Amino acid sequence: MPEELLQPFTVQLDFTSGLLAPDPVVLDRRLSDMQGYFLEEPAADALAYSVHEIHVPKTSNNLLSSTTVLAPGKVGNEFFMTKGHFHAVRDRAEIYLTLSGQGLLVMATEDGTAKTLDMTPGGASYVPGHWAHRSVNTGDEPLVFYAVYIGDAGYDYATIADEGFPVVVVDNGQGPEVVENPRYRRS
Ligand SMILES: [Fe+2]
Repeated sequence: MPEELLQPFTVQLDFTSGLLAPDPVVLDRRLSDMQGYFLEEPAADALAYSVHEIHVPKTSNNLLSSTTVLAPGKVGNEFFMTKGHFHAVRDRAEIYLTLSGQGLLVMATEDGTAKTLDMTPGGASYVPGHWAHRSVNTGDEPLVFYAVYIGDAGYDYATIADEGFPVVVVDNGQGPEVVENPRYRRS
């Protein structure tokens, strides 16, 4: 028996709102927290997304999980998105289960290979280790997904903050389009 035996528990998850009950950890990201992430700077501030995390110890024997609620909207012609990150421990994998809304899961390796997958309700996407990941809301409703990842994965936001992703998702007037990021590795 381990020194500190965790007790099993259940958290209620609302598939539409992404709310958890009980909801011990919430992180809000506003557009003002995302300076430099979009091709244009946001003209006004707004809540971009909230993360509701189920709290367990951040160790390799636990599975961390969270819901993310990403608002619909655009900055210029670029859809609202999460900051995106590599895992600090690069080989740690993650599963994204889309609960409601429509979006794209944008991924990239350190050598600049990009991959995007549709996010639609019921879609369970596997993000292998070594792939940075970001979600993009291409719809008119909140994009809500549940993510599960190895507890000691950690976050490396700095690499994405410095370099961006190789591709961005823009509205071309007829719908979402994945295009090359002209500012990739701008630093
Ligand atoms: Fe992650």
